[in-house]
Amino acid sequence: MTDPSSVLLTGIGELVTNDPDRPGLLGLLADAAVVVEGSRVAWVGSARDAPAADTAYDAGGRAVLPGFVDSHSHLVFAGDRAAEFAARMTGEPYTAGGIRSTVAATRAATDEELTSHVAHLVAEMRRQGTTTVEIKSGYGLTVHDEARSLAIARQFTEETTFLGAHVVPAGTDPAAYVELVTGPMLAAAAPYARWIDAFCETGAFDADQARTVLDAGRQVGLRGRLHANQLGPGPGVQLACELGLVAVDHCTYLTDADVAALRDSGTVATLLPGVEFSTRQPFPDARRLLDAGVRIALASDCNPGSCYTSSIPFCIAMAVREMGLSPAEAVHAATRGGADALDRADVGRVTVGAAADLVLLDAPSHVHLAYRPGVPLVAGVWLGGRPA
Ligand code: NIG
Ligand code: FE
Repeated sequence: MTDPSSVLLTGIGELVTNDPDRPGLLGLLADAAVVVEGSRVAWVGSARDAPAADTAYDAGGRAVLPGFVDSHSHLVFAGDRAAEFAARMTGEPYTAGGIRSTVAATRAATDEELTSHVAHLVAEMRRQGTTTVEIKSGYGLTVHDEARSLAIARQFTEETTFLGAHVVPAGTDPAAYVELVTGPMLAAAAPYARWIDAFCETGAFDADQARTVLDAGRQVGLRGRLHANQLGPGPGVQLACELGLVAVDHCTYLTDADVAALRDSGTVATLLPGVEFSTRQPFPDARRLLDAGVRIALASDCNPGSCYTSSIPFCIAMAVREMGLSPAEAVHAATRGGADALDRADVGRVTVGAAADLVLLDAPSHVHLAYRPGVPLVAGVWLGGRPA
């Protein structure tokens, strides 16, 4: 049987469009309908005005949202660090040093093991409403292991990020490692990557090293993003703004000058509340950022060390409860904000021409994502115009 060319989705109790031409931050529509043609949205409006289509699908009064855009994850790894998490919950601090144990486990895993683990995590994300995911390397830290991590990630998403500059491997001279990252490792990784990233933090890479890595990536056509100001104040956020990067991620410890630089540059501050949950650090002040006119995104940072959640609904609930966002602002940050952080105009919205990536909630409104934390509200996900 061939797929119908158009589908009319009716019975949408509340539709989040993120269309700036509609009222409110989320461009909400009640009693809405959407026509999907192929993989794209072809029409959006009130059910009473809906045109005919080849087939119909009744959403049964559910809220429908754009699929979540998770712009920051580290899914290519082996092993877990549950013991490290348990120790943190009883008082141990988080340090970036734990990354090295995941590097050892990842290097020891086969391609098949890594691939099936990524598939498992992507499916887990999908069941929770994520339809676009960015995946980084960063647990290989050799030419071979970084390239294969990205080749595996590429099987699942176009949004792949080379993070050879995650930490300096044990026993390696930092300057020599930066040369490796910007030379042979970059050459091997670039064919599988869209982005390049560095962990700019005490204990990882300083601002000069991060700048060198990002410059090298730019010269081979990779766009930059940065991990910065996660464990303490530092130069990373202002470096990202100076370089005009699309996004800078974590932003937990910000000075007034950092906030001003974010506002002036338009760089998206990607907030990762699962990290603060799992490291017991203070949550980033999203309210301060929005009030200053900074663009924000919410993402999972799913990884085995600082945050092993794949759940954007969980991140939305935390952003509302702990970071000063309204439910609408948090949902916007996890959809349209994530799209902005990946410089994607085709996802994170339900507008004509956008990808027909949708989340159907077993709830009448987006507010329930924060109002009913921990409840599996995602009743269905459409990916590229069909139920996934
Ligand atoms: O985004 N900050 C650096 N990298 C990851 C953590 C990686 C790990 O602990 O394994 C992060 O939090
Ligand atoms: Fe990260």
